[in-house]
Amino acid sequence: MSPLSAARAALRVYAAGAAVVLAQLLRRCRGGFAEPVLAPQPDRVAIVTGGTDGIGYSTAKHLARLGMHVIIVEFLYCDLASLQSIRQFVQKFKKKKIPLHVLVNNAGVMMVPQRKTRDGFEEHFGLNYLGHFLLTNLLLDTMKESGSPGCSARVLAVSSATHYIGELNMDDLQGSRCYSPHGAYAQSKLALVLFMYHLQRLLAAQGSPVTANVVDPGVVNTDLYKHVFWGTRLIKKLFGWWFFKTPDEGAWTSVYAAVTPDLEGIGGRYLYNEKETKSLTITYDLDLQRELWARSCQMTGIIDMTQDTFSG
Ligand SMILES: NC(=O)c1ccc[n+]([C@@H]2O[C@H](COP(=O)([O-])OP(=O)(O)OC[C@H]3O[C@@H](n4cnc5c(N)ncnc54)[C@H](OP(=O)(O)O)[C@@H]3O)[C@@H](O)[C@H]2O)c1
Repeated sequence: MSPLSAARAALRVYAAGAAVVLAQLLRRCRGGFAEPVLAPQPDRVAIVTGGTDGIGYSTAKHLARLGMHVIIVEFLYCDLASLQSIRQFVQKFKKKKIPLHVLVNNAGVMMVPQRKTRDGFEEHFGLNYLGHFLLTNLLLDTMKESGSPGCSARVLAVSSATHYIGELNMDDLQGSRCYSPHGAYAQSKLALVLFMYHLQRLLAAQGSPVTANVVDPGVVNTDLYKHVFWGTRLIKKLFGWWFFKTPDEGAWTSVYAAVTPDLEGIGGRYLYNEKETKSLTITYDLDLQRELWARSCQMTGIIDMTQDTFSG
């Protein structure tokens, strides 16, 4: 990415954020956000990554209130910036011999300075996207056993409006030529959307009782903004309570997507404010979904089942 496109990425991220904040303000003036009413979920198990803070903590809290057994990643230790740690986490989880009905791929970092995960991936790409790619793939067998027709297990990925301005740089996924924290964050959120859509197609082709959807929480008042420009942090500090959603409000789309009967058996959707909406046009590009999936399998050491599934 050239310095000019890095500056363009920053402007576009701020413009995307400002548009969401404006829409949220309008909605607040018209009555605000209502907590979805959902039925109790006893005997169901969920994993929420990034469940120690912000939106993930609120998601875990709401799912637990509905009666779910919720495993918070970090409580059962998992560093999503390490492929080895993810594999160890899955081993520990599987030793418990419990089912898994909901996986919320929520953890994330935003606009961090250029740095690498333990495996040498750019941090946004490695943690926000690849870490969840590996985690999901390793847990899929348990989820397939845990779901049943009429009561599917559900995988969710928490993306963001920044995916709309994201560009998937297939020649330089690690942003090594010219790093833009804004571009890297947006790319990781775009990759998550492509990932969920391809996963949903695979699951549907296999007839698996598991669905995959994307959720977009809006702009939410959390610590995610600790690496942004100081002026933005100041605005957040002064007006965040009014402009931004609270972590609970930000969690409602995740909680809704995790349990609502409206989405039983339905996957491949992008959900915002508990409603389906369109994601960026290129996210529906099947070749791009397939290409990213294949590259991600190589990077994480997963066997790519795409060919087998779609040919037989
Ligand atoms: N806030 C927003 O406006 C907004 C908007 C759109 C999308 N999102 C998305 O929502 C998700 C949650 O963000 P948030 O706003 O709730 O941010 P947050 O308050 O900063 O929470 C992020 C969570 O991710 C965890 N995490 C970070 N690095 C990790 C690692 N290496 N391994 C495991 N967990 C790790 C954090 O744990 P530690 O604190 O222990 O590091 C924390 O629990 C993110 O994917 C974000 O991109 C947020």
